[in-house]
Amino acid sequence: MTAKGCFLDFGGKWVVVTGASSGIGRACAVELSRHGARVVLVGRNDATLDDARTSLNGDGHEVLALDLSDLSAIGPTVARLAKQVGRLYGLCHAAGIVVTSPLSTSTVDVVQSMMTVNVQAGLELARHVTRRNVMEPDAGSLLFLSSIYGRVGAAGETGYCATKGAIAAAVRAMAIELARRNIRVNSISPGLVKTPMTDKALGPLTSEQVSALEQKYPLGPGTPSDVARAAVFLLAPATAWITGTDLAVDGGYSAQ
Ligand SMILES: NC(=O)c1ccc[n+]([C@@H]2O[C@H](COP(=O)([O-])OP(=O)(O)OC[C@H]3O[C@@H](n4cnc5c(N)ncnc54)[C@H](OP(=O)(O)O)[C@@H]3O)[C@@H](O)[C@H]2O)c1
Repeated sequence: MTAKGCFLDFGGKWVVVTGASSGIGRACAVELSRHGARVVLVGRNDATLDDARTSLNGDGHEVLALDLSDLSAIGPTVARLAKQVGRLYGLCHAAGIVVTSPLSTSTVDVVQSMMTVNVQAGLELARHVTRRNVMEPDAGSLLFLSSIYGRVGAAGETGYCATKGAIAAAVRAMAIELARRNIRVNSISPGLVKTPMTDKALGPLTSEQVSALEQKYPLGPGTPSDVARAAVFLLAPATAWITGTDLAVDGGYSAQ
């Protein structure tokens, strides 16, 4: 299925999607390809990325194995990528990790591991993707995955909440700074979405606890595609006047 002729068409523009091997990032890659984007799928494992690539619409997508916790590798890798494929239009930073841990065991290392992938890698990607010799000259669009946990708190999620609040704040600053170059920067704050990340996080809970959590969502829990459709909307060239915003995609959770 393609969305050719749709107002959200990307016309073959290149979008880098991190976290493309799993969950929300993978769904973003699929949905972007259905809207005519050429996608660079980023994750750590060639095999899972190749598998994700088979679910994309059309040919000509690229796979890039990169461990984002190695921040010093990001700049040279983006530069090599731009030499290989040409100018980039967009970035969707969906790679992320969560370590659920009470404050008493949220050590510097635990919090730093989340900060590195969820925040610093995203900023480092933005820094290099927006270089004048890397990004398309006339317009660009960056999207970051925040979370409703960047807006509201949750027990055991101090470090994770800090990373998601940080990225939403950084989005606003980047949006202001990059507007003069017509580069837009936005974030999405999903609520509970069924993915390998949530399977792991909810694993220790009883079925009653999981069901109580799900009942907090007026529209029920979401799917990766629910988030991916919003990602396409915010990244698309057509939504050229939207920047610095954080869109809750949470089945009504934060409206209560
Ligand atoms: N699921 C939810 O309910 C929910 C809610 C709010 C926000 N979010 C956010 O949405 C984003 C996607 O979450 P998800 O649920 O789709 O998670 P997921 O299924 O666990 O996928 C996480 C992705 O991040 C990649 N990744 C993790 N560490 C990496 C590293 N060091 N280098 C490169 N890639 C790395 C993984 O790639 P590998 O294949 O290399 O492991 C994987 O593709 C995250 O930022 C998360 O915080 C999720």
